[in-house]
Amino acid sequence: MTLGMRVCAPTAAAFRPSYLRGLSRAHGPPRRDFTCSPRPTGRWTRQVAATRPDRPRVLITGGLGQLGSGLAEILRQQYGKENVILSDIKKPSAHVLSSGPFVYADVLDYKQLRELIVNNGVTWLVHYSALLSAVGEANVALARKINITGLHNVLDLALENCLRIFVPSTIGAFGPSSPRDPAPDLCIQRPQTIYGVSKVHGELMGEYLHHKYGLDFRCLRYPGVISAHTHPGGGTTDYAIQIFHDALSTGRHECYLRPDTRLPMMHIADCHRATVEFMHAPQSWLSLRTYNIDAMSFTPEEVADEIRKHVPQLRVTYKSDPVRQMIADSWPVRFDDSNARRDWGWTPVYGLEGLVSDMLHSIREKRTDEGLPVS
Ligand SMILES: NC(=O)c1ccc[n+]([C@@H]2O[C@H](COP(=O)([O-])OP(=O)(O)OC[C@H]3O[C@@H](n4cnc5c(N)ncnc54)[C@H](O)[C@@H]3O)[C@@H](O)[C@H]2O)c1
Repeated sequence: MTLGMRVCAPTAAAFRPSYLRGLSRAHGPPRRDFTCSPRPTGRWTRQVAATRPDRPRVLITGGLGQLGSGLAEILRQQYGKENVILSDIKKPSAHVLSSGPFVYADVLDYKQLRELIVNNGVTWLVHYSALLSAVGEANVALARKINITGLHNVLDLALENCLRIFVPSTIGAFGPSSPRDPAPDLCIQRPQTIYGVSKVHGELMGEYLHHKYGLDFRCLRYPGVISAHTHPGGGTTDYAIQIFHDALSTGRHECYLRPDTRLPMMHIADCHRATVEFMHAPQSWLSLRTYNIDAMSFTPEEVADEIRKHVPQLRVTYKSDPVRQMIADSWPVRFDDSNARRDWGWTPVYGLEGLVSDMLHSIREKRTDEGLPVS
């Protein structure tokens, strides 16, 4: 048996592994079958080196969600506008269209994705397409399709085309039987959501392909990400964004979690910086392929108290949503990210105080620009 990844266009002829020479692959499209061949470490390293990691061509899937466009902006500043392609199945705004290349790409359409990667000489793939925790529980079949079938598609394509691939994971990859305070990188992972199950599957598949074939798979477990300019996509930590908008519009927020529900959170700027720094890290620095990254942990009550230092009139009521509360109660309250700090120097900038003042400042400014009242 052989694996489709062995066609590494356009350098395939130069670096084709010896155990594939003589096969008729060059005359037909890559196949998606699998091989038991040993890991071709040396050749793989040469193939990756040939893609000029100093100036990658990046494709971001699911790029119109909360995280994609901000990451694209940072990568475009570093590598040039044309070298970072944003993709999604949603219609982009005029701003997105004028900011750099955007293409329609459905991660379930393998052939179209392959065409996109080959035609554009893509060397890095950031795989952001997913259905998040709360939305996934409401549509398990679709979550399974997008989060698992979609993942298999991009992993296979990364192998075929010798890509460096980044797939984010989450606090949701842990479950009630995991150590929760703090959750280490390596421990029992028995999540109870389809989102969590698909993310553990992603971590394990990526690591397996790395160990077996040398795939340059990289994965960070993000905490709940807090952003002022982009909207969350249906996760369990979404309240921690909505509360800022409510504080500055109506002055009231109804929280779907209990006041003492503690979860790991991170400012979006730290999340983007972590992603870029991790993607740049030389392979020799990485003792793991999946790392926790931490910044702060807070409860709804604590973030509300911090917001009240700026917006004293904020009133918060609590009406626990059984699905999201059950999910939150099964997640870690804190991450142990000591491996990320040691291996590639991860350090967050934002704590709770800085996050709250930055969020209020940014949302205030946005509302003022849009001619909306600010309380
Ligand atoms: N935002 C967070 O707090 C957070 C925390 C941990 C992990 N993550 C992970 O980071 C990644 C990005 O998160 P996000 O918050 O931007 O998610 P999001 O839900 O805001 O965006 C996901 C995007 O995927 C797109 N998508 C859905 N189906 C698709 C398909 N078939 N083909 C292509 N695109 C499709 C959607 O249109 C959407 O724009 C996800 O993998 C998520 O699991 C996010």
